[in-house]
Amino acid sequence: MLSLDFYNPTRIILGKGRIAELDQHINANARVLVLYGGGSVERNGTLAEVRQALGTRHVQLFSGIEPNPTYETLMQAVELIRRDQLDFLLAVGGGSVIDGTKFVAAAVHFTGDPWDILLTGGTNVTTALPLASVLTLPATGSEMNNGAVITRAVDKAKLPMHSDQVFPQFSILDPSTTFSLPAKQVSNGVVDAFVHVIEQYLTVPFNSPLQDRFAEGLLQTLIEIGQQAVTESDNEEVRANLMWAASLALNGLIGAGVPQDWSTHLLGHELTALYGLDHAQTLAVVLPAMLQVRREAKRAKLLQYAQRVWQLTDGSEDERIDAAIDQTRSFFETVGVPTRLSDYGLDQSCIEPALEQLQTHGMTALGEHGDITPEVCRQVLLLSL
Ligand code: NZQ
Ligand code: ZN
Repeated sequence: MLSLDFYNPTRIILGKGRIAELDQHINANARVLVLYGGGSVERNGTLAEVRQALGTRHVQLFSGIEPNPTYETLMQAVELIRRDQLDFLLAVGGGSVIDGTKFVAAAVHFTGDPWDILLTGGTNVTTALPLASVLTLPATGSEMNNGAVITRAVDKAKLPMHSDQVFPQFSILDPSTTFSLPAKQVSNGVVDAFVHVIEQYLTVPFNSPLQDRFAEGLLQTLIEIGQQAVTESDNEEVRANLMWAASLALNGLIGAGVPQDWSTHLLGHELTALYGLDHAQTLAVVLPAMLQVRREAKRAKLLQYAQRVWQLTDGSEDERIDAAIDQTRSFFETVGVPTRLSDYGLDQSCIEPALEQLQTHGMTALGEHGDITPEVCRQVLLLSL
């Protein structure tokens, strides 16, 4: 580890019944916009709880933020905020709603075309409205980080942004809000959090024993509780632990001061934008193949992962690496996320368009060494069929 910079201002309020505490954390005079998705929070009672906790404040609602939130929908929220002079944003939902709210917060006072925020990855954001979240889906870590991923439907572009201006001020994590989740979304959440850890951990040795141990602890926790979180839909303790693990998986801590490799995510984004796979489904498909193709560049860390996370100590180095990749694949399958493109009805013809989109978006030098080119991604996708 050479040097590091760690900043995370988000207060986490985790526990059953804690939505009532919203009142203590938002200014009484705030003009609040509550943003949410397709209606799950209306049906499971979370929205009603939020409204009650907000008391007599001025509150307006904006619904319809879709999974993989679109620029087109979010710009409608931006117009509403500008028109009605709202000054505090509360996201109620999963990663898509929180991500969408972050973009809206940054876009309201942005001069110029707000899509430029995505084209620069968020570096041109200088101010944003204050925001907070009530999380209903443990997965992305968006509730405790400065990132968002936004899709522009018209050109099928799904691009990330990061800005310290869009950290949530606080996030409320009440595990009982997750009881209504379909099993598929919990499976997705386990896989997404797992791959977030992998992308910050499984690179090259960097004399960062603490980040490594944190990362291995998160991976082992997800392996321990993953399946139970999926099958026991009203197990409050397991869901609370999953929420906390998913937040810590991508809040900047384990990635501070170490190399990172977001190639699985960035290639996965193209598969979502072109073919509609859920975010975590793309990760389950890409990661095992990416590890195979990158096994030499990642050899030392793969061996550490095999030993410390999967307790694989027998056999040659190559056998241990193969076994660790197999275990990873079967973990994803066991929690319920298929790992082959063919499982989602895709064949070889899906590959070239994805590579072209990588080129269009300038994603041509990915990975911890910057040497994952579209050609390497072709090998990965061929291995994922
Ligand atoms: O829209 P509603 O009706 O709310 O339904 C949602 C949606 O259909 C439903 N849902 C959420 N909470 C529920 C519920 N259904 C029943 N009960 C509940 N309690 O779940 C569906 C999926 O929701 P979504 O928010 O899309 O899922 P997720 O949290 O997995 O977010 C995925 C998005 O986050 C981005 C992904 O790219 C994707 O766009 N990511 C954001 C990151 C970040 N900000 O740091 C990092 C991640 O790598 C990821 O890229
Ligand atoms: Zn992710």
